[in-house]
Amino acid sequence: MDANQSLNGVAECNPKPILVTGGAGFIGSNFILEWLAEGRGPVVNLDKLTYAGNPENLAAVEEHPDYSFVRGDICDRELVKQLLDRFKPRAVVHFAAESHVDRSILGPEAFLKTNIDGTFTLLRAAKAYMESLDVAGRADFRFLHVSTDEVYGTLAPEDPAFHEGTPYAPNSPYAASKAASDHLVRAWVHTYKLPAIVTNCSNNYGPYQFPEKLIPLMIANARQGKPLPVYGDGQQVRDWLYVVDHCRALITVLENGRIGETYNVGGGNQRSNLEVVTTLCALLDELLPQSQFRPHAQLITYVEDRPGHDRRYAIDARKLEGELGWRAQESFETGLHKTVEWYLSHAGWVESVTSGAYQHWVEQNYGSRETTAGATGSSR
Ligand code: NAD
Ligand code: TYD
Repeated sequence: MDANQSLNGVAECNPKPILVTGGAGFIGSNFILEWLAEGRGPVVNLDKLTYAGNPENLAAVEEHPDYSFVRGDICDRELVKQLLDRFKPRAVVHFAAESHVDRSILGPEAFLKTNIDGTFTLLRAAKAYMESLDVAGRADFRFLHVSTDEVYGTLAPEDPAFHEGTPYAPNSPYAASKAASDHLVRAWVHTYKLPAIVTNCSNNYGPYQFPEKLIPLMIANARQGKPLPVYGDGQQVRDWLYVVDHCRALITVLENGRIGETYNVGGGNQRSNLEVVTTLCALLDELLPQSQFRPHAQLITYVEDRPGHDRRYAIDARKLEGELGWRAQESFETGLHKTVEWYLSHAGWVESVTSGAYQHWVEQNYGSRETTAGATGSSR
């Protein structure tokens, strides 16, 4: 729906809804499913449906009386204004973004547009909307900006984990665009008293993640006996968090977080990429005893590294845990098991999202990468 289209098809909500942006993507859809499952009230989902947005993720709640979907762009100033004025949300939960580092390296423009311009558009509209509210409405209103640990840059093996005071040092176009958006939020809090909160989370995994990110890509390739492309030496470390734990952290921050604060969110699960891929292969060996591709680890293939590849991310989530009592409920082992089972039982979903456009992307990203012997040697 664009600014000129009527919003009449969308039910007006009572009690006050939240406005979610990017709710058809990986984390946003898990968030909406969790929010509705917990009976937390109405949600309006504004999503442009880029290649990463898939309404099928929300098929289970399509008819839910508390769920409304609006197709549109967060950069569309008129549409955002109309939605705020019409639905009078008690909060904006802002997920919408271009989110894949490799895509940001090949084509940064969309990242600057959506992540920076889009956030600016939302902030400007949220400020005007907030100023139109009465005292009670203003006191309740929140703008929750969902961001990433990648804004902090990269860690050496002996460095302490990222904390809320770690200086920003983004290294990829994606990370730079998210850092810029975090700074805009900060400025809107400081200058205009917008009641915003920022969260910076580590790598998520779980159901509905587009199979261009490490974990779902490896599962999808392994099932088909395709190479499992490990960048560089595979010793880069990420701190993995099960997506539903992230969503629960966001709900906690939205309901109880302090205005103007940043909360780091992470699972305390640091793993090298190679460890993640070999663990996935072992799980697939176990869950697919008839697979002709067993042992799946034989498919691991070292390919040319990502330019500017960050070596290590790790999150110190003690502020969120200590101040708001949040704890991750899944360990990496239980979360990964659930995730692999989900992908194995949702082959149709993977099939439907890996369209022709996606195949073109695969060609662009992997077609020109040399196959290399990693530091530990090719595992073939
Ligand atoms: P995603 O790429 O899966 O989903 C992004 C969603 O935003 C899609 O539904 C897409 O259609 C929508 N979108 C994109 N541009 C839009 C626009 N201009 N207007 C409206 N909608 C638009 O991303 P994700 O992994 O779900 O990440 C969600 C948010 O969480 C992002 O802001 C990301 O930076 C942040 N984050 C992600 C991770 C992770 O591991 N995936 C970790 C920390 C933070
Ligand atoms: P990714 O899922 O793209 O997340 P991010 O770049 O935001 O951390 O990648 C996770 C890690 O896996 C990262 O170090 C890059 C690496 N990787 C590979 O080794 N091979 C791949 O094909 C992909 C997509 C990622």
